[in-house]
Amino acid sequence: MPAPTSPRFDNRAKDEILSRVDIAQVIGRYVNLKQVGSSLKGLCPFHKEKTPSFHVNPARGIFHCFGCGKGGDVFTFLMEHEGLEFKEALAQLAVETGVPLDARPAESEGPAGPAIPKTELLKIHEVALQFYYQQVRQSSIAVDYFKARGLAAGLVREFMLGYAPEGWSSFCQHAGQAGFSDELLLAAGLGLQKSEKSSTYDRFRDRIMFPLCDITGRCIAFAGRGLNSDTQPKYLNSPETALYHKSKTLYGLHKSKAAIKTEGSVLIVEGYIDYLTLFQAGICNVTATSGTALTPDHVQILRRFTSNVFLVFDGDDAGIAAAQRALPIFAPAGLTVKVLVIPDQEDPDSFVRKHGAEAFKKLLLTEAQHYLTYGLNRALAHHPLGDGPEAKSAVIAELTPLLTALADPIIRGEFIKQIAERLELDARLIQGRFNRSSSVYPRAAAPEPKNEDVSADYLRTQGAQFIALLIHHPRLAGRAQELITPEIFTDDFSAKLYSMVVNQVLSQRPVEALMSENEDAHTKTALSAMLAKPVEAPDETIDEEFAHCVQRLRSLYLKNQLRLIVRRIKAEPQNAFALLQQQKVISSQLHELQRT
Ligand code: UTP
Ligand code: MN
Repeated sequence: MPAPTSPRFDNRAKDEILSRVDIAQVIGRYVNLKQVGSSLKGLCPFHKEKTPSFHVNPARGIFHCFGCGKGGDVFTFLMEHEGLEFKEALAQLAVETGVPLDARPAESEGPAGPAIPKTELLKIHEVALQFYYQQVRQSSIAVDYFKARGLAAGLVREFMLGYAPEGWSSFCQHAGQAGFSDELLLAAGLGLQKSEKSSTYDRFRDRIMFPLCDITGRCIAFAGRGLNSDTQPKYLNSPETALYHKSKTLYGLHKSKAAIKTEGSVLIVEGYIDYLTLFQAGICNVTATSGTALTPDHVQILRRFTSNVFLVFDGDDAGIAAAQRALPIFAPAGLTVKVLVIPDQEDPDSFVRKHGAEAFKKLLLTEAQHYLTYGLNRALAHHPLGDGPEAKSAVIAELTPLLTALADPIIRGEFIKQIAERLELDARLIQGRFNRSSSVYPRAAAPEPKNEDVSADYLRTQGAQFIALLIHHPRLAGRAQELITPEIFTDDFSAKLYSMVVNQVLSQRPVEALMSENEDAHTKTALSAMLAKPVEAPDETIDEEFAHCVQRLRSLYLKNQLRLIVRRIKAEPQNAFALLQQQKVISSQLHELQRT
């Protein structure tokens, strides 16, 4: 067995869990398994089938589907089926099997202080969850509140909504009597202290309680809503703790992840109540942020479940501003993102209660705009073209952060085309202006052909082969221009040569003419070498060859971006966080590309 490659992978615990866990029991929660000979059989949860081809072999601890080919151990199953990361699957099974995990704190854990194990924090949250939930029965205020907001008792139960009573220490006393220390109450953010010696009192008082859970459904924090319109703040959230990172928490995801997968899309709304009203109305592929704007981490979590995102924002000024801030977060992610701003100052909750779920679905279908189009429309609304030529410039200036954040040059090229059309400008003008401000993705100082005669090495590069393909099959030039912008080439020489060749072909002039029009010796020799050497692929496979070339160029581009980012992380440690986010996004794009 190879040595662990990362301290995060607790191999010893993994092996111990594998030896203890009953895979049939775990999978049995999701799949109806029947004994057939020595193995168990059921309908595969990973693809649609009518006759069972999904096998579980408890003795070997593995599953395999002979229909779709998916297989692995219990970790693979949970990761694939529940969208968990290895760490999360490990944590879940560790609890179930009673295997202690390496106590080494994760890097993301809170500030130094008395180290309180996460298991203790989870325990006190479970106690709090039950306590606040029980309070609802004793409090007509809470029951009336849920009624007034249209939240049925079943939903309150399903999401364990609760009530934190008035008074100063109902929960702290309850927890104290159950043997929990003040130290733990403080670390969990459930208790507060005026000064070091004074007694601990409740953070949440006279509030409707929304438990916030991790993706496996364990309560890790709370949000409490004030009952009166003048309570400040309206929503009070738990502080960041070793368990709760608001930038990584998505409300209700443990309940909605299955629907997100089956529906193939997710709606992100702004508020807890919006989430609950939609969920109750049968729109279950939904989630909400908790006390913070959308972050790249949220995006990374959601892309495990779907690549279609609907950003749903309230129709007030705050909602519109939030929509605009969210756009660049999604720009590097390569997801299909649509934006819906609810009309008439409503939010999803009030809209559904007024007009019903069907009207909401219809709104989503007819009114949600592609997020880039949405951004362009907003910029045009801010700077109406009728105001004069400055408006066009201002529109582009407003869109520059979004353009810069678009990691995929193909999408960026398309967006520039769209902007150019709306502004009635030449796309090259925007491209040129944009190139100057695109410091996010600097061009590599890549190898250029060195000697007078272009080396055979250069002609073997992906870039050169792609250009040669276009020279010999000019009908591909139009598609090439659509799919490949010059920046995708990792060297400037190919980028320039490519632009020249495509422009030449599209304006129906002979490529040979470029040789006499160009002073540069490298360009001349490269062109002559390419013109002289026929492309080897047989004619009928040219389209396939073209598609492969596009894919290889994109993959080279992404790899190059990764190299540059690694270099920048070293050079600019102050930007490490943002750079690491970019790195994550580009890596996953690369993986996706390599999968297809
Ligand atoms: P909203 O003010 O839009 O409230 O805040 P809402 O969701 O419509 O709630 P109701 O319908 O008035 O009950 C949207 C979200 O912003 C966060 C919460 O996550 C809330 O759900 N928020 C809002 C806070 O964290 N703190 C606040 O004081 C207000
Ligand atoms: Mn609301």
